[in-house]
Formats: sequence, structure tokens, C-alpha cells
Amino acid sequence: MLRERIRHRPLLDRVVTADEAAALIKDGMTVGMSGFTRAGEAKAVPLALAERARKDPLKITLMTGASLGNDLDKTLAEAHVLARRMPFQSDPGLRKAINAGEVMFIDQHLSETVEQLRTNQIPPVDIAVVEAVAITEQGGIVPTTSVGNSASFAILADKVIVEINLSQPVTLEGLHDIYIPARRPARMPIPVVTPESRVGLPFIPVPPEKIVAIVVSEKHDSSATILPPDDDTRAIAGNLTDFLLNEVKRGRMGYELQPLQAGIGTIANAVLHGFIDSPFHDLKMYSEVLQDSTFELFDAGKLGFASGSSITLSAKMYRKVLPRLAEYKHHLILRPQEISNHPEVIRRLGLICINTALEFDIYGNVNSTHVGGTHMMNGIGGSGDFARNGYMSIFVTKSIAKNGAISSVVPMVSHVDHTEHDVDVLVTEVGLADLRGLAPRERAQVIIANCVHPDYRDALRDYYVRASQRGGHTPHILEEAFSWHVALRDRGTMRSA
Ligand code: COA
Repeated sequence: MLRERIRHRPLLDRVVTADEAAALIKDGMTVGMSGFTRAGEAKAVPLALAERARKDPLKITLMTGASLGNDLDKTLAEAHVLARRMPFQSDPGLRKAINAGEVMFIDQHLSETVEQLRTNQIPPVDIAVVEAVAITEQGGIVPTTSVGNSASFAILADKVIVEINLSQPVTLEGLHDIYIPARRPARMPIPVVTPESRVGLPFIPVPPEKIVAIVVSEKHDSSATILPPDDDTRAIAGNLTDFLLNEVKRGRMGYELQPLQAGIGTIANAVLHGFIDSPFHDLKMYSEVLQDSTFELFDAGKLGFASGSSITLSAKMYRKVLPRLAEYKHHLILRPQEISNHPEVIRRLGLICINTALEFDIYGNVNSTHVGGTHMMNGIGGSGDFARNGYMSIFVTKSIAKNGAISSVVPMVSHVDHTEHDVDVLVTEVGLADLRGLAPRERAQVIIANCVHPDYRDALRDYYVRASQRGGHTPHILEEAFSWHVALRDRGTMRSA
């Protein structure tokens, strides 16, 4: 079986245990690991590394594509292995260590990490650890359920450790499209002209002699933690569908819409799920993570093609999709994240980008990352790549959180990830605000009327009226702008006393 997976025969001699491979990682190294939105991460070596660090402490800088599954971020944080971590995470344990100041987290646009590595703007990757389904006859590495930054990590690192995961089906082979942009300023345009464009290789090209160790693992990807759609997310999807239908009726696009991008998490997944009952058809996705909703839309005959950088599924969907991968494969591509999230490609393809806000303010600034303005949730991920460059940038959120103690619409966001200039449409279960072509004072009125939960609407309107009386292009009462967040911190609720 191993011979079918490791087809470059001389590499069969490099098969070692996870402990032996982990021993190649030394204190102070920068390690580039596969893994993107809990899919396709190296699984055995990081565990062995954490185990070793418990007896023999060491610290590394860990770069990945995005979040790791199988509690690896938690395990590594608890073993105090992580000095620095980039560019994204979504683990409660690591989140705690970041917010305690123990791990230096560099929250970065997902398209940017390897551009900075390639140009030596950040310290180089010493060693790459990449999960693979196979190594080809020429020594090419065939990734598993994500591509993320794996290709550039392997190409740029001095040494590569490959984890052959026997639980990942060989039918994954042929799904990937590895295209590495040339160095600037001599770079030609990236030749992706439709979501279906295949422009690269189905494997990561590295000289086989760089592969210093191969570890065999059998652990599955962990399941997505998204919750099923509820009344609120169904209402958000309904509001968005009505809006897009109106765009079609006004002749701005056809029923196939523009290619879609949808962000991580429960809400974005539920919104896309809502398109199953819409009149739209022949949809295409050019996204980053492909969640359950992508496959539900395929099965409903709504979606023609999906391009992403990873496949992250619930346990139920994983059991359904993986055995049928050969059927889906003709309609799927997995790319490096610098291509799935490339600003130039996103702008050129004209994507409708749907991402989730933690909170937004009355002028349309969006906070996707910082709870209460200070505490990291997950990171900006790809939302900035898409929001800044899309044909239309849409942010969705429920109008309240934590049983109503938090209003997701506030006077001023406590942290800005997406400025008012990058936000076109805001949607909650209450309604939708189309901000295109509106000045700040106009935006505030539409947002307050359409998106705010009834429990908070009067208070927000009162704030805006009093702020406008003071004047300004973007009126605010600075001494009061964060009073809602202060009330939450001090009293546990934003509701007035
Ligand atoms: N203040 C504090 N907490 C808030 C909040 C607010 N304004 N709004 C939501 N939350 C909490 C929720 O209560 C929930 O908490 P819990 O995990 O304890 O239940 C948590 O945030 C997640 O919210 P949920 O409503 O379940 O949404 P989600 O799963 O869709 O995640 C984000 C929302 C914003 C956290 C998530 O989309 C994210 O990390 N986005 C940034 C990265 C990104 O957009 N990538 C897109 C490119 S793929």
C-alpha cells in the first residue's frame, strides 16, 4: 500500500516515526505546516513535537495556511511550543494563550503570507511539514483536503517532512491546481480567467532530495464545528436572496449571479445553504473554504463549479462526500490560498463576497476579529482579501449576540477590520442595508432603520441624532462612542440600565 502512495522509490527509505521526524525541528525554528480551516493539516508530527516539548522545552514560529484541526493548535499552545503563530487560528485554547500575551499572533490577510516569505520580508521557513495523499514518480507532493500555503512552504523551505495520510482517499489526486506566481516585478498576470481555469500542476513540485523524512498517519480531518441553519440565519439568507433577486430584476446580473465567495463559520454557511430554495441557478464559487453548503448546492443542482483552497465538512457531510469524490471532482479545484484569495483575480472575476462580522457600526465599518475591541476571536482570514476587492462586499451577522446582551450594531466599532470604504451591503435577520452610493449620514439612517434589533434601535437612533447635532461628515460623540462596550465590560450587557 505504501508503494502505491510513495511512487518515487528512493523515498521509501526516508519513512521514519513521527518522533524521529519531529526531532528534525529545533528550538527557534520557523516551521511551515499544511492545514487550512481544519482541513489537511499534518497530524502526527505536531503531536510528537508537543509531546517532546513537555519533556524538553522548545519554541517555534508556526506558520500554516489557516486554522488547524484535531485540537493541534490547543495541544501546541498547552505544550508552550508556540512563540509566534500566523496567519489565522480558530481554537479556543490557542485564543486564550494569545489573549494572555503568551503567543505572539500575527493576524494577516491570507493572500499575503507567502508573498512576504518569498521576498524575505519575514524570517524564512526552515522546515515544511505537509500532509499528502501520495508522492508522485517524480517526487511531487499531492496534498490532501487543503492546499493553503503548503506549496510555497515546501518550495521555500530548506527541508520538507511529508505525512502520508492513508485515511485520505487517493481520489483526491487530480483535484489540486498548484500555480506559483513568478517573482515581482517581472510577474505576468495570473491566468485564472474563470473559476474553472486550471493553470498549474496537480502536485507540489519539489526536488525529492529535499524530502528528508516521511511519516505515515491515518488520522481523519476533524469535523467542521458549524451549527445547522436556525430561524435567524434563514432570515438573513432570505433578506440576501431578495436583495440579489432585485439586482437580477434590475438587469445588473443574471440568475447565475457573479461567482460567489462565502466566509467561514455557521452564518456564512447557512446563508449559502439558503440559496438552495432561491431561483438562482448555474452558480459558481470562487472561494477559500468549501463548507457543507457547497456540496448541498451541488446536490440541489444549483452549483456548477467550485474553486477553493480547502474542503471543511461536518462529520455527516464528510461521510457522504469522500466516497463520492470522483463524481464531484470534475466540478472542483483546490488552489494555493494566494491564488484563491488573490486581490487581482478577485477583482477581475467580479466576486460577490459574503463574510461575517462580529459587529458593525452605524457608518458601515466592520469588526470581524476583536471581541470588545481587545480580545482576538479568530483572525481576519481571507475576509479582507475578498471584501476589499470584490464586485460586491456583503457582511452578514445576527443583530444580537449572547441572548441579547450584545448588539452587533454599535455606535462605533471597537476595532476595524473592514473600513466603510470596503463594505457595500450589511445584512442581519432584521433586514438589509444597501450602502452603495450613500454618504455616512445616509448610511447611518439606513443601517439603523433596517439592521438593528428592535431592543437597541431607539438607543442607536438617539445616539445618531445627538451626534449629528454636533456636526461633522461622520458625526460622533467621542466620549460616548464606546459606552456600549464599556457597559458590556462593566455590567455584562449593552442594554441600558
Ligand atoms: N461580540 C462578542 N461576541 C460575539 C459577537 C459580538 N459582537 N457577535 C458574535 N459573537 C460570538 C457569538 O456569540 C459566538 O460565540 P460562542 O462561540 O461562544 O457561541 C461566536 O462569536 C461566533 O459567532 P456565530 O454567531 O456562531 O458566528 P460564526 O460561526 O459565523 O462566526 C466570526 C463569526 C465573525 C467569528 C467568523 O466568521 C470569523 O472568524 N470571521 C473572520 C474570518 C473570516 O471572515 N474569514 C472569511 C474568509 S473564509
